[in-house]
Amino acid sequence: MAALVKLFYLLAAVLFIFGLKRLSSPATARSGNWLASVGMLIAIVVTLLFQGILTWQMIIVGMIIGSLIGATFARMVKMTAMPQMVALLNGFGGGASAVVASAEYARFLDAGSAIPLNTGITIQLSVLVGSLTFSGSVIAFAKLQELVTGRAVTYPLQKTLNAILLAVIVGLVVWLVVTPQNPTAYVVLAGLAFLLGMLSVIPIGGADMPVVISLLNSYSGIAAALTGFVISNEGLIISGALVGASGLILTNIMCRAMNRSLANVLFGAFGATVAEIGPAGAPGGKSVRSITHEDAATMMAYARQVVFAPGYGLAVAQAQHEVRELADLLQDRGVEVKYAIHPVAGRMPGHMNVLLAEADVPYDQLFDMDHINPEFDRTDVSVVIGANDVVNPAARHDRSSPLYGMPILDVDKSHHTIVMKRSMRPGFAGVDNELFYDEKTSMLFGDARDSFKKLITEVQEV
Ligand code: TAP
Repeated sequence: MAALVKLFYLLAAVLFIFGLKRLSSPATARSGNWLASVGMLIAIVVTLLFQGILTWQMIIVGMIIGSLIGATFARMVKMTAMPQMVALLNGFGGGASAVVASAEYARFLDAGSAIPLNTGITIQLSVLVGSLTFSGSVIAFAKLQELVTGRAVTYPLQKTLNAILLAVIVGLVVWLVVTPQNPTAYVVLAGLAFLLGMLSVIPIGGADMPVVISLLNSYSGIAAALTGFVISNEGLIISGALVGASGLILTNIMCRAMNRSLANVLFGAFGATVAEIGPAGAPGGKSVRSITHEDAATMMAYARQVVFAPGYGLAVAQAQHEVRELADLLQDRGVEVKYAIHPVAGRMPGHMNVLLAEADVPYDQLFDMDHINPEFDRTDVSVVIGANDVVNPAARHDRSSPLYGMPILDVDKSHHTIVMKRSMRPGFAGVDNELFYDEKTSMLFGDARDSFKKLITEVQEV
């Protein structure tokens, strides 16, 4: 029987790995998600059945209730609120690992039996990482949901106090490993880890949260893998390790695309202050050129190639269906339409892909940064839709800019650039954008969705 269980766990692990692989492209991501979900279902049902934890009837009732809750959340949550939903789910994962490890600890105490050294180590680490993940994720959720301020909250000696707290926690872990029969120290350890999770996330700006959520996702995987060692469950060890590793890889990809180190994201208090650029005007007396919807539509309708460069504003405006409609109209007129996808456009990994997929934009029209950048100098019109930082040329040359070194979409190399946004306000990095003052750039002010509706009407009349 034990061999059969291991075989099922192996099957689940294979499904997880193929699922993860398929998640790497928008075209295969849905099936990847399905594969991984089936793997998880197999792992859970096998565990519950063979461990004799629950009866068939209970499993089915639990599955129905869980599926209803999951499906309702998945349907209700707005795409822009996805990061906080993921934060919450990570938190539950971390919390569950801490609870399972604690239950195992309590079982040993009740039985009065000695805790083997390796089990002791994994129990302490599991409660540490699990509690920290839980509280950190709850703070991340609260920031993104705007239940508390989304800004980076800093205070004197913050890093020193956090370092002292971490040192105390490490000391407690070592103490508990050596003398495990100490429930008071165990509760203090869980409490301090909880506190550290909160204090570590507080100084991080709300908009850096997706990177932190990805890191916390990795932590929740590590906590699960550690708990897998505590209860000797291979399925949990494998799935936890996969989540831990993929979360770390994603965190690394996001940091590289923003040209920031993880340390800068975690300790840099990015976004504590934002450069205020009034909605009405540009700083330093610089001027921008505005364009009417009619002129913008004419420019696009007579172009050979138009590249749309979407950013966070597309998500805010929810203009993806209108973008697709305009693209169809342009293609009917023989215009070649492409979409330029920056890896950190928006606020979460794959944000633009998800939005455009919702409007059934064909995948072969989506080009990642490395593939579209060589195309801009032969592009007649680039249309920047609510993007700002990811098209800021200062990233290439201005060493004083927080964006310096971040790879950007080279829209400024196209023959004309139309920037769609509501005002002159900066984006996430809080800095002005020299693209707006470029003589080849025209600003099309207004909510992106409203503007697209007008552009569609105008193109139909050209
Ligand atoms: P941003 O630089 O944040 O700029 C978005 C722009 O959209 C704003 O300037 C805003 O200008 C405009 N906008 C907002 N609502 C709009 C609407 N309804 N209609 C039209 N425009 C609207 O966005 P980006 O260029 O996508 O860059 C993303 C930034 O987020 C980068 O700095 C990146 O490092 C950071 N970040 C990304 C991620 C991931 S994983 N994607 C994670 C963490 C941080 P107005 O207010 O004037 O309209």
